[in-house]
Amino acid sequence: MFTPVKLGAIELKNRLVMAPLTRMRAVDGDVPNPLAKTYYAQRAGAGLIISEATQISPLAKGYPATPGIYSPEQTAAWREVVEAVHAKGGKIVAQLWHVGRISHSSLHPEQGVPEAPSAIAAAGQTYGADWKLHDYETPKAMTLDDIARLLKEFEAAAQNAKSAGFDGVEIHAANGYLLDQFLQDKTNHRTDQYGGSVENRLRLLGEVIDSVTKVFPSDRIGVRLSPYGSFNDMADSDPVGLFNAAIQKLNGYQLAYVHMIEPRSTSAGGNDQVNETAPITSEIFRAAYQGQFISAGGYDQAMGEAVLEAGLADAVAYGRLYISNPDLAERFKQGAPLNAYDRATFYGGAEVGYTDYPTL
Ligand code: FNR
Repeated sequence: MFTPVKLGAIELKNRLVMAPLTRMRAVDGDVPNPLAKTYYAQRAGAGLIISEATQISPLAKGYPATPGIYSPEQTAAWREVVEAVHAKGGKIVAQLWHVGRISHSSLHPEQGVPEAPSAIAAAGQTYGADWKLHDYETPKAMTLDDIARLLKEFEAAAQNAKSAGFDGVEIHAANGYLLDQFLQDKTNHRTDQYGGSVENRLRLLGEVIDSVTKVFPSDRIGVRLSPYGSFNDMADSDPVGLFNAAIQKLNGYQLAYVHMIEPRSTSAGGNDQVNETAPITSEIFRAAYQGQFISAGGYDQAMGEAVLEAGLADAVAYGRLYISNPDLAERFKQGAPLNAYDRATFYGGAEVGYTDYPTL
């Protein structure tokens, strides 16, 4: 855990990664909260910080008060965050996000209904701009023009991330959001070159990587995947076939890393249930990937050490524990007790549950 590692061109001082964590505290204009500087800098003991998911456009937003990375104001605020992390000797990449159908038109009234690979509404309810629950709407199936626009938005967001000084970007292709919706056949019913065969369903992810590679070298780009994840009404008829093909494809890009979420804690953002019978995706998929691999999901220190020692990951990402333990790396090093997290303050609010967890 405490040996350095290189993820592509990004040099980490240890193998502890802060997982991407949406905190829904952005201010007007979906600009990162001024407190985010403190929050992230407090956690710079991690070998790598992955930012909370940050939307690449207004329509890419799926919850109230999540930050964007498409406007100059947002980019300027991110620059301050990055500088604060760098000043503490940390590394930070931006997680680039489009939620697809996991959204509500009240969050982007000018753009209207959410967009997705196919016009299939997610089951259940989601938060609108009023922070109240609403039924999911049926999204608009994206046209080829929409996809061309999307690729430009990814490129522009990557450009903003670069200008903000991020060490790289992570493309969010996990957890049932847009790129995952294209990958998995429960949500992708397209009949064009972006749907049907596995090769077609992987096409958009490849094109997004190509777009982002116009800005960052591939060894500063990571991709997050969540095979077997059921969060956000997601499923595929053949996860092993699909995600093995995804890894084969990603092997061709010389990325910084692939980041996989163990499905045992697929809903960690919503509850603390653990599915003990879930497949172990590091055991299923890691061997096929030729580059560096981050594993996340339900790890404590001992499990993290074990997955590293087994060679099933090069770094381990911690989510909930990083919320409540800004100095998690130091605590692990000393074998010190951990602060418990307070789920009630995960989303929304200000300092409480954000920048006020005590260090040793
Ligand atoms: C998350 N997770 C998450 N994942 C992601 O890719 N982008 C995100 O913005 C978020 N946001 C988020 C918010 C909160 C409050 C939680 C708890 C989780 C998932 C997270 O990165 C991680 O995969 C899970 O939390 C599982 O890891 P832990 O918490 O068991 O270490």
